[in-house]
Amino acid sequence: MHIMPVVTAVGLSALLFACVEYGKPPEKTTGAHDYNDYCAACHGPTGKGDGETAAGLGKKPADLTTLAARNKGAFPTTKVMAQIWGYAGKKGKGVMPDFAPLLEGDTVPYDGGDGIATPTPIRLVELAEYLKTLQVK
Ligand code: HEC
Repeated sequence: MHIMPVVTAVGLSALLFACVEYGKPPEKTTGAHDYNDYCAACHGPTGKGDGETAAGLGKKPADLTTLAARNKGAFPTTKVMAQIWGYAGKKGKGVMPDFAPLLEGDTVPYDGGDGIATPTPIRLVELAEYLKTLQVK
């Protein structure tokens, strides 16, 4: 008898997932998508800093898979976001290009770890969340 709720829950979440997938607007971006479009050329497909154009750069792109490891195991979300955000305003000064498109569009309240939810561009949040998944343990 106790198996029914489990089956129902699984069925429901599958249904929910299907709805979410179906309801997705086609132009919706994801962190993975934006990473491939904006970052992979330099930082590499897996974030190791070995992208196609990395060799031609004066400065070696950082290894983004060790961001957490280099920060005592905690992913430095706000620092990463600031890195991307900050570059938008200093065209030509840094190696990284202007990421203005990532800062446009909807914002979501996001708590980067300090307990304060700040309105943050959703694509920036998704990108940071994606980078978290690339971290080496
Ligand atoms: C044109 C090549 C290029 C592109 C494109 C690029 N980066 Fe970088 N990135 C670099 C280089 C080179 C460095 C190291 C030197 C510096 O900071 O300028 C760096 C450094 C960083 C750092 C600092 C890492 C650390 O160890 O502190 C972060 C975070 C970062 N990039 C994230 C991104 C993200 C996210 C994207 C995509 C939105 C991106 N980068 C796109 C070249 C690039």
